Amino acid sequence: MNLQYEFPEGFWWGSATSATQIEGAAKEEGKGQNIWDYWYSIEPNRFFNNIGPETTSDFYHQYKKDIKLMRKIGHNSFRFSISWSRLIPGGRGKVNSKAVAFYNNVIDQLLENNIEPFVNLFHFDMPLELQNEGGWENREVVEAYAVYARECFRLFGDRVKKWFTFNEPIVPVEGGYLYDFHYPNVVDFKRAVQVAYHTILAHVKAVESFRHFHIKNGKIGIILNLTPSYSRSQNPADLEAANITDLFFNRSFLDPVVLGNYPKELVHILQKYGILPITQKEDFELIKNNTIDFLGVNYYQPRRVKAKENLPNPYGVFMPEWFFDNYEMPGRKMNPYRGWEIYEKGIYDIMINLKKNYRNIESFVSENGLGVESEEKFLKDGYIQDDYRIEFIKEHLKWLYKAIEEGCNVKGYHLWTFMDNWSWTNAYKNRYGLIAIDLNTKKRTPKKSAYWFKDVATYNGF
Ligand code: BG6
Repeated sequence: MNLQYEFPEGFWWGSATSATQIEGAAKEEGKGQNIWDYWYSIEPNRFFNNIGPETTSDFYHQYKKDIKLMRKIGHNSFRFSISWSRLIPGGRGKVNSKAVAFYNNVIDQLLENNIEPFVNLFHFDMPLELQNEGGWENREVVEAYAVYARECFRLFGDRVKKWFTFNEPIVPVEGGYLYDFHYPNVVDFKRAVQVAYHTILAHVKAVESFRHFHIKNGKIGIILNLTPSYSRSQNPADLEAANITDLFFNRSFLDPVVLGNYPKELVHILQKYGILPITQKEDFELIKNNTIDFLGVNYYQPRRVKAKENLPNPYGVFMPEWFFDNYEMPGRKMNPYRGWEIYEKGIYDIMINLKKNYRNIESFVSENGLGVESEEKFLKDGYIQDDYRIEFIKEHLKWLYKAIEEGCNVKGYHLWTFMDNWSWTNAYKNRYGLIAIDLNTKKRTPKKSAYWFKDVATYNGF
Protein backbone atom coordinates (compact mmCIF):
# COMPACT_ATOMS: atom_id res chain seq x y z
CA MET A 1 0.00 0.00 0.00
CA ASN A 2 1.39 3.35 -1.02
CA LEU A 3 0.77 5.76 1.84
CA GLN A 4 1.09 9.48 1.68
CA TYR A 5 0.77 9.84 5.43
CA GLU A 6 2.46 7.00 7.26
CA PHE A 7 2.52 7.32 11.04
CA PRO A 8 5.33 6.13 13.32
CA GLU A 9 5.41 2.45 14.19
CA GLY A 10 3.26 1.49 17.16
CA PHE A 11 0.99 4.54 16.81
CA TRP A 12 -2.07 4.27 19.07
CA TRP A 13 -5.30 4.14 17.08
CA GLY A 14 -8.54 3.99 18.97
CA SER A 15 -11.32 5.93 20.55
CA ALA A 16 -12.33 7.47 23.85
CA THR A 17 -15.39 7.17 26.06
CA SER A 18 -16.46 7.85 29.62
CA ALA A 19 -18.34 5.76 32.20
CA THR A 20 -21.44 7.94 32.62
CA GLN A 21 -21.77 8.33 28.88
CA ILE A 22 -21.72 4.66 27.92
CA GLU A 23 -22.33 2.33 30.84
CA GLY A 24 -25.99 2.80 31.67
CA ALA A 25 -27.02 0.53 34.58
CA ALA A 26 -27.05 3.70 36.63
CA LYS A 27 -28.92 2.08 39.50
CA GLU A 28 -27.67 -1.47 39.16
CA GLU A 29 -25.36 -3.68 41.20
CA GLY A 30 -24.68 -1.26 44.00
CA LYS A 31 -23.73 1.84 42.01
CA GLY A 32 -24.14 5.04 44.02
CA GLN A 33 -25.51 8.28 42.60
CA ASN A 34 -23.24 10.81 40.99
CA ILE A 35 -24.08 14.44 40.27
CA TRP A 36 -25.49 13.57 36.83
CA ASP A 37 -27.94 10.99 38.18
CA TYR A 38 -29.02 13.50 40.78
CA TRP A 39 -29.24 16.60 38.61
CA TYR A 40 -31.32 14.71 36.07
CA SER A 41 -33.66 13.53 38.84
CA ILE A 42 -34.40 17.10 39.91
CA GLU A 43 -34.19 19.02 36.61
CA PRO A 44 -34.76 16.66 33.67
CA ASN A 45 -35.68 19.60 31.47
CA ARG A 46 -32.07 20.80 31.49
CA PHE A 47 -31.23 17.75 29.32
CA PHE A 48 -31.85 17.60 25.57
CA ASN A 49 -35.19 15.88 24.96
CA ASN A 50 -35.31 15.13 28.69
CA ILE A 51 -32.97 12.17 28.26
CA GLY A 52 -30.83 11.29 31.27
CA PRO A 53 -27.77 9.11 31.93
CA GLU A 54 -29.77 5.92 32.35
CA THR A 55 -30.38 5.81 28.61
CA THR A 56 -27.09 4.84 27.07
CA SER A 57 -25.51 2.36 24.74
CA ASP A 58 -25.54 -0.07 27.70
CA PHE A 59 -21.85 -0.91 27.67
CA TYR A 60 -22.26 -2.29 31.18
CA HIS A 61 -24.09 -5.28 29.73
CA GLN A 62 -22.77 -5.32 26.18
CA TYR A 63 -19.04 -4.70 26.65
CA LYS A 64 -18.03 -8.08 25.25
CA LYS A 65 -19.73 -7.48 21.95
CA ASP A 66 -18.50 -3.90 21.82
CA ILE A 67 -14.89 -4.82 22.43
CA LYS A 68 -15.03 -7.38 19.62
CA LEU A 69 -16.38 -4.65 17.39
CA MET A 70 -13.52 -2.37 18.43
CA ARG A 71 -11.07 -5.00 17.35
CA LYS A 72 -12.90 -5.41 14.06
CA ILE A 73 -12.54 -1.73 13.25
CA GLY A 74 -8.83 -1.73 13.97
CA HIS A 75 -8.49 -0.38 17.51
CA ASN A 76 -5.19 -1.14 19.22
CA SER A 77 -6.13 1.01 22.22
CA PHE A 78 -9.28 2.26 23.91
CA ARG A 79 -9.99 4.82 26.62
CA PHE A 80 -12.71 4.41 29.18
CA SER A 81 -13.19 5.80 32.64
CA ILE A 82 -13.92 4.18 35.97
CA SER A 83 -17.05 5.44 37.65
CA TRP A 84 -16.03 6.48 41.16
CA SER A 85 -19.62 6.14 42.40
CA ARG A 86 -19.81 2.62 40.98
CA LEU A 87 -16.49 1.48 42.44
CA ILE A 88 -16.89 3.17 45.82
CA PRO A 89 -20.55 4.10 46.26
CA GLY A 90 -20.75 7.32 48.24
CA GLY A 91 -17.15 8.14 47.28
CA ARG A 92 -15.56 6.82 50.49
CA GLY A 93 -15.29 3.46 52.20
CA LYS A 94 -16.04 -0.02 50.99
CA VAL A 95 -15.24 -1.05 47.43
CA ASN A 96 -18.17 -2.53 45.47
CA SER A 97 -17.11 -6.05 44.45
CA LYS A 98 -19.58 -6.12 41.54
CA ALA A 99 -17.90 -3.04 40.11
CA VAL A 100 -14.47 -4.57 40.53
CA ALA A 101 -15.66 -7.64 38.63
CA PHE A 102 -17.07 -5.47 35.83
CA TYR A 103 -13.90 -3.41 35.33
CA ASN A 104 -11.75 -6.54 35.59
CA ASN A 105 -13.82 -8.14 32.86
CA VAL A 106 -13.56 -5.09 30.62
CA ILE A 107 -9.79 -4.91 31.05
CA ASP A 108 -9.32 -8.64 30.46
CA GLN A 109 -11.55 -8.61 27.44
CA LEU A 110 -9.62 -5.70 25.93
CA LEU A 111 -6.30 -7.42 26.49
CA GLU A 112 -7.58 -10.66 24.99
CA ASN A 113 -8.44 -8.67 21.87
CA ASN A 114 -5.01 -6.99 21.79
CA ILE A 115 -6.44 -3.63 22.71
CA GLU A 116 -4.51 -1.63 25.25
CA PRO A 117 -6.70 -0.16 28.01
CA PHE A 118 -6.21 3.56 28.70
CA VAL A 119 -7.93 4.18 32.02
CA ASN A 120 -9.14 7.52 33.27
CA LEU A 121 -10.18 8.06 36.89
CA PHE A 122 -12.48 11.05 36.68
CA HIS A 123 -14.68 12.22 33.84
CA PHE A 124 -17.01 14.91 35.31
CA ASP A 125 -18.79 12.38 37.58
CA MET A 126 -18.47 13.41 41.22
CA PRO A 127 -20.24 11.06 43.67
CA LEU A 128 -23.28 12.92 44.98
CA GLU A 129 -22.40 12.51 48.66
CA LEU A 130 -19.04 14.18 48.10
CA GLN A 131 -20.65 16.99 46.12
CA ASN A 132 -22.94 17.50 49.09
CA GLU A 133 -19.81 18.00 51.18
CA GLY A 134 -18.74 20.76 48.81
CA GLY A 135 -17.19 18.72 45.99
CA TRP A 136 -13.85 20.06 44.78
CA GLU A 137 -14.26 23.17 46.88
CA ASN A 138 -13.66 21.03 49.95
CA ARG A 139 -10.08 19.97 50.57
CA GLU A 140 -11.25 16.78 52.25
CA VAL A 141 -12.72 15.61 48.95
CA VAL A 142 -9.20 15.83 47.54
CA GLU A 143 -8.15 13.25 50.14
CA ALA A 144 -11.10 11.01 49.28
CA TYR A 145 -10.06 11.14 45.60
CA ALA A 146 -6.48 10.20 46.49
CA VAL A 147 -7.77 7.09 48.31
CA TYR A 148 -10.00 6.20 45.34
CA ALA A 149 -7.06 6.58 42.92
CA ARG A 150 -4.91 4.34 45.10
CA GLU A 151 -7.61 1.67 45.12
CA CYS A 152 -7.70 1.73 41.32
CA PHE A 153 -3.92 1.36 40.98
CA ARG A 154 -4.01 -1.51 43.48
CA LEU A 155 -6.92 -3.30 41.84
CA PHE A 156 -6.05 -2.88 38.16
CA GLY A 157 -2.40 -1.79 37.97
CA ASP A 158 -1.19 -5.31 37.22
CA ARG A 159 -2.78 -5.04 33.76
CA VAL A 160 -3.43 -1.35 33.10
CA LYS A 161 -0.28 0.56 32.17
CA LYS A 162 -1.71 3.83 30.88
CA TRP A 163 -3.43 5.91 33.54
CA PHE A 164 -5.05 9.34 33.59
CA THR A 165 -6.12 11.24 36.67
CA PHE A 166 -8.71 13.51 35.03
CA ASN A 167 -10.40 14.25 31.76
CA GLU A 168 -10.68 17.98 31.01
CA PRO A 169 -10.53 19.10 34.65
CA ILE A 170 -11.33 22.67 33.62
CA VAL A 171 -14.77 21.68 32.34
CA PRO A 172 -16.35 21.03 35.77
CA VAL A 173 -14.82 24.38 36.82
CA GLU A 174 -16.42 26.17 33.89
CA GLY A 175 -19.64 24.17 33.89
CA GLY A 176 -20.22 23.93 37.63
CA TYR A 177 -18.81 27.25 38.89
CA LEU A 178 -18.78 29.76 36.03
CA TYR A 179 -21.18 29.17 33.16
CA ASP A 180 -23.97 27.04 34.62
CA PHE A 181 -23.85 23.92 32.48
CA HIS A 182 -22.92 21.37 35.17
CA TYR A 183 -24.29 20.77 38.65
CA PRO A 184 -23.99 22.53 41.19
CA ASN A 185 -24.70 25.48 38.85
CA VAL A 186 -22.75 28.07 40.80
CA VAL A 187 -21.57 31.27 39.09
CA ASP A 188 -18.64 32.61 41.08
CA PHE A 189 -15.12 33.27 39.78
CA LYS A 190 -13.44 33.03 43.19
CA ARG A 191 -15.02 29.69 44.00
CA ALA A 192 -14.17 28.47 40.50
CA VAL A 193 -10.51 29.23 41.12
CA GLN A 194 -10.59 27.24 44.37
CA VAL A 195 -12.18 24.29 42.57
CA ALA A 196 -9.52 24.41 39.85
CA TYR A 197 -6.77 24.52 42.44
CA HIS A 198 -8.11 21.57 44.41
CA THR A 199 -8.42 19.56 41.22
CA ILE A 200 -4.72 20.09 40.56
CA LEU A 201 -4.00 19.06 44.13
CA ALA A 202 -6.07 15.89 43.72
CA HIS A 203 -4.20 15.18 40.50
CA VAL A 204 -0.73 15.52 42.03
CA LYS A 205 -1.71 13.41 45.04
CA ALA A 206 -2.79 10.64 42.67
CA VAL A 207 0.47 10.94 40.72
CA GLU A 208 2.42 10.75 43.97
CA SER A 209 0.68 7.56 45.07
CA PHE A 210 1.03 6.07 41.57
CA ARG A 211 4.82 6.40 41.91
CA HIS A 212 4.70 4.29 45.09
CA PHE A 213 3.13 1.40 43.25
CA HIS A 214 6.03 0.99 40.83
CA ILE A 215 3.72 -0.32 38.14
CA LYS A 216 5.97 -1.99 35.58
CA ASN A 217 6.04 0.07 32.36
CA GLY A 218 3.26 2.17 33.88
CA LYS A 219 2.69 5.79 32.92
CA ILE A 220 0.49 8.40 34.42
CA GLY A 221 -0.87 11.53 32.83
CA ILE A 222 -3.86 13.79 32.54
CA ILE A 223 -6.17 14.70 29.67
CA LEU A 224 -6.54 18.41 28.96
CA ASN A 225 -8.77 20.17 26.48
CA LEU A 226 -6.32 22.64 25.03
CA THR A 227 -7.86 25.51 23.09
CA PRO A 228 -5.22 27.56 21.31
CA SER A 229 -5.95 31.26 21.77
CA TYR A 230 -5.74 33.37 18.63
CA SER A 231 -5.95 37.14 18.78
CA ARG A 232 -7.95 39.18 16.28
CA SER A 233 -4.87 41.19 15.29
CA GLN A 234 -1.29 41.90 16.20
CA ASN A 235 -2.30 44.98 18.21
CA PRO A 236 -0.87 44.78 21.71
CA ALA A 237 -4.33 44.95 23.31
CA ASP A 238 -5.63 42.03 21.21
CA LEU A 239 -2.46 40.05 21.87
CA GLU A 240 -2.88 40.64 25.59
CA ALA A 241 -6.45 39.31 25.41
CA ALA A 242 -5.12 36.12 23.81
CA ASN A 243 -2.39 35.88 26.42
CA ILE A 244 -4.91 36.14 29.27
CA THR A 245 -7.24 33.52 27.84
CA ASP A 246 -4.26 31.22 27.35
CA LEU A 247 -3.33 31.74 31.00
CA PHE A 248 -6.87 31.14 32.25
CA PHE A 249 -7.98 28.29 30.04
CA ASN A 250 -4.79 26.42 29.12
CA ARG A 251 -1.83 27.29 31.27
CA SER A 252 -3.74 27.19 34.58
CA PHE A 253 -3.64 23.41 34.21
CA LEU A 254 -0.90 22.77 31.67
CA ASP A 255 1.92 24.51 33.55
CA PRO A 256 1.46 22.84 36.95
CA VAL A 257 0.99 19.33 35.52
CA VAL A 258 3.86 19.42 33.01
CA LEU A 259 6.28 21.96 34.49
CA GLY A 260 5.42 21.70 38.17
CA ASN A 261 4.53 25.35 38.76
CA TYR A 262 1.92 28.02 38.06
CA PRO A 263 2.64 30.88 35.63
CA LYS A 264 3.68 33.94 37.66
CA GLU A 265 1.53 36.18 35.50
CA LEU A 266 -1.57 34.16 36.32
CA VAL A 267 -0.85 34.27 40.06
CA HIS A 268 -0.35 38.01 39.76
CA ILE A 269 -3.76 38.54 38.11
CA LEU A 270 -5.56 36.38 40.67
CA GLN A 271 -3.83 38.26 43.46
CA LYS A 272 -4.63 41.66 42.00
CA TYR A 273 -8.33 40.81 41.81
CA GLY A 274 -8.49 39.13 45.22
CA ILE A 275 -9.34 35.66 43.96
CA LEU A 276 -6.26 33.63 44.89
CA PRO A 277 -7.26 30.20 46.22
CA ILE A 278 -6.57 29.02 49.76
CA THR A 279 -3.40 26.93 49.64
CA GLN A 280 -1.04 25.22 52.05
CA LYS A 281 2.69 25.64 51.93
CA GLU A 282 3.50 21.99 51.31
CA ASP A 283 1.22 21.90 48.23
CA PHE A 284 3.83 23.56 46.05
CA GLU A 285 6.46 20.91 46.72
CA LEU A 286 3.91 18.27 45.79
CA ILE A 287 3.07 20.06 42.55
CA LYS A 288 6.74 20.50 41.74
CA ASN A 289 7.67 16.87 42.41
CA ASN A 290 4.78 15.13 40.69
CA THR A 291 4.74 16.12 37.06
CA ILE A 292 3.22 13.78 34.50
CA ASP A 293 4.76 11.18 32.19
CA PHE A 294 2.50 11.85 29.24
CA LEU A 295 -0.36 14.10 28.19
CA GLY A 296 -3.68 13.49 26.48
CA VAL A 297 -4.78 16.39 24.30
CA ASN A 298 -8.46 16.86 23.55
CA TYR A 299 -8.91 19.22 20.65
CA TYR A 300 -12.20 20.36 19.16
CA GLN A 301 -11.98 24.08 18.54
CA PRO A 302 -9.77 27.14 18.90
CA ARG A 303 -10.57 30.27 20.91
CA ARG A 304 -10.53 33.61 19.10
CA VAL A 305 -10.42 36.76 21.14
CA LYS A 306 -10.04 40.52 20.97
CA ALA A 307 -9.43 43.27 23.49
CA LYS A 308 -12.35 44.28 25.68
CA GLU A 309 -14.48 46.81 23.85
CA ASN A 310 -16.60 47.98 26.76
CA LEU A 311 -19.49 45.86 25.59
CA PRO A 312 -21.88 45.04 28.41
CA ASN A 313 -20.57 42.09 30.40
CA PRO A 314 -22.85 39.21 29.35
CA TYR A 315 -22.78 37.74 32.86
CA GLY A 316 -23.18 40.95 34.84
CA VAL A 317 -20.66 39.76 37.43
CA PHE A 318 -16.89 39.45 37.68
CA MET A 319 -15.89 36.68 35.27
CA PRO A 320 -12.97 35.71 33.05
CA GLU A 321 -14.80 37.69 30.33
CA TRP A 322 -13.87 40.82 32.29
CA PHE A 323 -10.53 40.61 30.48
CA PHE A 324 -11.41 39.89 26.85
CA ASP A 325 -14.19 39.64 24.27
CA ASN A 326 -14.76 36.63 22.09
CA TYR A 327 -14.18 37.26 18.42
CA GLU A 328 -15.95 35.65 15.48
CA MET A 329 -13.46 35.54 12.66
CA PRO A 330 -15.17 36.30 9.34
CA GLY A 331 -15.28 33.28 7.05
CA ARG A 332 -14.37 30.79 9.74
CA LYS A 333 -15.43 27.19 9.13
CA MET A 334 -18.10 26.03 11.57
CA ASN A 335 -19.69 22.83 12.73
CA PRO A 336 -23.23 24.17 12.48
CA TYR A 337 -24.69 21.54 14.80
CA ARG A 338 -22.40 22.14 17.74
CA GLY A 339 -21.61 25.80 17.06
CA TRP A 340 -17.88 25.09 17.26
CA GLU A 341 -15.31 26.41 14.80
CA ILE A 342 -13.39 23.79 12.85
CA TYR A 343 -9.75 24.78 12.57
CA GLU A 344 -7.58 21.78 11.79
CA LYS A 345 -4.27 23.61 12.12
CA GLY A 346 -5.03 24.15 15.81
CA ILE A 347 -3.89 20.59 16.50
CA TYR A 348 -0.50 21.36 14.97
CA ASP A 349 -0.13 24.62 16.91
CA ILE A 350 -0.84 22.80 20.17
CA MET A 351 1.78 20.15 19.48
CA ILE A 352 4.41 22.69 18.43
CA ASN A 353 3.73 24.62 21.65
CA LEU A 354 4.21 21.42 23.68
CA LYS A 355 7.47 20.80 21.88
CA LYS A 356 8.83 24.29 22.40
CA ASN A 357 7.57 25.17 25.85
CA TYR A 358 6.61 21.94 27.58
CA ARG A 359 9.73 19.76 27.37
CA ASN A 360 8.37 18.07 24.25
CA ILE A 361 6.35 15.87 26.55
CA GLU A 362 5.06 12.59 25.15
CA SER A 363 1.49 13.22 24.06
CA PHE A 364 -1.35 11.91 21.96
CA VAL A 365 -4.65 13.20 20.72
CA SER A 366 -7.02 11.80 23.31
CA GLU A 367 -10.19 13.29 21.80
CA ASN A 368 -11.09 14.91 18.51
CA GLY A 369 -14.31 14.43 16.63
CA LEU A 370 -17.36 15.81 14.93
CA GLY A 371 -20.81 15.90 16.52
CA VAL A 372 -23.67 15.88 14.03
CA GLU A 373 -27.37 16.29 14.72
CA SER A 374 -30.05 14.12 13.04
CA GLU A 375 -27.41 11.97 11.43
CA GLU A 376 -30.09 9.55 10.19
CA LYS A 377 -30.50 11.85 7.20
CA PHE A 378 -27.18 10.53 5.88
CA LEU A 379 -28.44 6.95 5.98
CA LYS A 380 -28.06 5.17 2.65
CA ASP A 381 -27.90 1.45 1.83
CA GLY A 382 -28.41 0.59 5.50
CA TYR A 383 -25.62 2.61 7.05
CA ILE A 384 -24.68 6.23 7.70
CA GLN A 385 -22.48 7.65 4.96
CA ASP A 386 -20.56 10.13 7.08
CA ASP A 387 -18.03 11.39 4.55
CA TYR A 388 -17.97 14.69 6.46
CA ARG A 389 -16.52 12.85 9.50
CA ILE A 390 -13.89 11.10 7.39
CA GLU A 391 -12.91 14.47 5.95
CA PHE A 392 -12.78 16.03 9.43
CA ILE A 393 -10.49 13.31 10.82
CA LYS A 394 -8.29 13.22 7.73
CA GLU A 395 -7.65 16.97 7.75
CA HIS A 396 -6.71 16.87 11.44
CA LEU A 397 -4.46 13.88 10.90
CA LYS A 398 -2.60 15.69 8.12
CA TRP A 399 -1.67 18.49 10.55
CA LEU A 400 -0.78 15.97 13.22
CA TYR A 401 1.48 14.21 10.75
CA LYS A 402 3.25 17.49 9.99
CA ALA A 403 3.79 18.09 13.73
CA ILE A 404 5.36 14.63 14.04
CA GLU A 405 7.56 15.30 11.01
CA GLU A 406 8.77 18.42 12.80
CA GLY A 407 9.79 16.45 15.86
CA CYS A 408 6.73 16.60 18.12
CA ASN A 409 6.51 13.64 20.47
CA VAL A 410 3.02 12.45 19.44
CA LYS A 411 2.15 8.79 19.96
CA GLY A 412 -1.44 8.33 18.93
CA TYR A 413 -4.89 9.46 17.92
CA HIS A 414 -8.13 8.61 19.70
CA LEU A 415 -11.39 9.69 18.21
CA TRP A 416 -14.35 10.89 20.23
CA THR A 417 -16.00 8.41 20.16
CA PHE A 418 -16.47 4.71 19.59
CA MET A 419 -20.26 4.61 19.53
CA ASP A 420 -22.86 7.39 19.62
CA ASN A 421 -23.19 8.13 23.31
CA TRP A 422 -25.10 10.15 25.87
CA SER A 423 -23.44 13.48 26.37
CA TRP A 424 -24.20 15.52 29.47
CA THR A 425 -26.85 18.18 28.90
CA ASN A 426 -26.74 17.56 25.14
CA ALA A 427 -27.76 13.93 25.71
CA TYR A 428 -28.11 12.33 22.25
CA LYS A 429 -28.36 15.58 20.28
CA ASN A 430 -24.99 15.37 18.55
CA ARG A 431 -23.70 12.01 17.38
CA TYR A 432 -19.94 11.49 17.35
CA GLY A 433 -19.54 7.72 17.02
CA LEU A 434 -17.91 5.48 14.46
CA ILE A 435 -20.80 3.17 15.28
CA ALA A 436 -24.43 4.25 15.22
CA ILE A 437 -26.85 3.04 17.83
CA ASP A 438 -30.57 2.53 17.73
CA LEU A 439 -31.59 3.63 21.23
CA ASN A 440 -34.69 1.44 21.25
CA THR A 441 -33.19 -1.85 20.12
CA LYS A 442 -29.57 -1.01 21.09
CA LYS A 443 -28.53 -2.35 17.68
CA ARG A 444 -25.03 -1.25 16.67
CA THR A 445 -24.29 -0.39 13.03
CA PRO A 446 -20.86 0.77 11.84
CA LYS A 447 -20.89 4.00 9.83
CA LYS A 448 -18.79 4.54 6.72
CA SER A 449 -16.16 6.25 8.92
CA ALA A 450 -15.73 3.02 10.91
CA TYR A 451 -14.60 1.16 7.78
CA TRP A 452 -12.33 4.02 6.81
CA PHE A 453 -10.86 4.24 10.32
CA LYS A 454 -10.18 0.51 10.25
CA ASP A 455 -8.05 0.92 7.12
CA VAL A 456 -6.14 3.85 8.57
CA ALA A 457 -5.40 1.88 11.75
CA THR A 458 -4.51 -1.27 9.84
CA TYR A 459 -2.12 0.45 7.43
CA ASN A 460 -0.97 2.94 10.05
CA GLY A 461 -1.79 5.81 7.77
CA PHE A 462 -3.65 6.78 4.62
C1 BG6 B 1 -15.48 16.52 25.52
C2 BG6 B 1 -15.83 15.59 26.66
O1 BG6 B 1 -15.32 17.79 26.04
O2 BG6 B 1 -16.43 16.72 24.53
C3 BG6 B 1 -16.85 14.52 26.30
O3 BG6 B 1 -14.69 14.99 27.20
C4 BG6 B 1 -17.95 15.11 25.44
O4 BG6 B 1 -17.33 13.96 27.49
C5 BG6 B 1 -17.32 15.67 24.16
O5 BG6 B 1 -18.97 14.21 25.14
C6 BG6 B 1 -18.33 16.24 23.17
O6 BG6 B 1 -19.11 17.22 23.74
P1 BG6 B 1 -20.66 17.36 23.40
O7 BG6 B 1 -21.21 18.26 24.43
O8 BG6 B 1 -20.76 17.94 22.04
O9 BG6 B 1 -21.20 16.00 23.46
